[in-house]
Amino acid sequence: MVGSGQMGGGIAQVCATASFETITHDLFLTRDNPKLGLGAIRARLQRQVDQGRLAAADLDRAMANLSDTTDLADLAGCDLIIEAVVERLDDKAAIFRTLDGQCGPQTIFASNTSSISITELAAQTKRPDRVLGLHFFNPPPVMKLIEMVRGLTTSDETFATCRSLAERLGKTPIVSQDRAGFIVNYLLMPFLLDAIRAYENGLATKEDIDAGMVYGCNHPMGPLTLADFVGLDTCYYIAQVLFEEFKEPRYAPPPLLKRMVLAGRLGRKSGKGFYDY
Ligand code: CAA
Repeated sequence: MVGSGQMGGGIAQVCATASFETITHDLFLTRDNPKLGLGAIRARLQRQVDQGRLAAADLDRAMANLSDTTDLADLAGCDLIIEAVVERLDDKAAIFRTLDGQCGPQTIFASNTSSISITELAAQTKRPDRVLGLHFFNPPPVMKLIEMVRGLTTSDETFATCRSLAERLGKTPIVSQDRAGFIVNYLLMPFLLDAIRAYENGLATKEDIDAGMVYGCNHPMGPLTLADFVGLDTCYYIAQVLFEEFKEPRYAPPPLLKRMVLAGRLGRKSGKGFYDY
């Protein structure tokens, strides 16, 4: 795993509990940080042990499959590398270029991107047939879906290998062509952006907008709560990529969203978004 934030840490947990030896990379070691990476994984699994839903031996087994590093070169021998860093092309492209120079030819590169072109990421490397999208959902240990994204150059063999991996992780794979937002965010993002616009335009309180979708449509979270949960910076970056690709107003980031991101109100992860945490 490259990146051990809310997505990377969750994906590493899924892999390690499914018995895959997993190395997490970040700019700092996460083993002692209860909020990130390995520290957060241990804390989540410990909660399950305390509630009697996981055997202590299974926690030990999962943790034994995990290690962390700050050196990308330590991933050189991996069969699969899943990148889950910030949703910006330049950051992801730089990581793919570095890894391409360090890894053997067998290594498959996957991106957990929500929106960025897999074909463009593949073009950063000399292994464009071994690059694809594996998009997990938040929180990865709970959500059943993996969106598999095939770039123009992804080979059938790479795709088949990763489909069987998705199944071994206990997930349900769906397949999307390489278009901004793929399947889920093509549909989800306009909904979240519309909820932000409705709030910005004074249609109703944030609580009532959320309650409308929770109690009226049985959504587990209202859209403003969900935007906070995903991260308002991530929503903003995804909206920008979608708008850039399709030029449709429904994907344009609302001015309020942009200002909240500029103010550092990123949702749950920063302690403040539409709500306080
Ligand atoms: N990490 C890991 N596990 C978590 C978690 C987290 N951050 N938050 C909750 N959980 C687990 C809990 O441990 C619990 O597990 P068990 O069933 O094994 O006990 C389970 O989730 C349910 O948790 P709670 O009972 O505390 O809370 P809940 O019933 O309110 O459910 C929720 C929490 C699963 C997050 C639920 O509110 C939900 O499904 N929300 C919608 C999530 C969603 O839409 N995610 C997709 C976002 S879009 C995206 O990710 C992709 C993108 O590109 C933007």
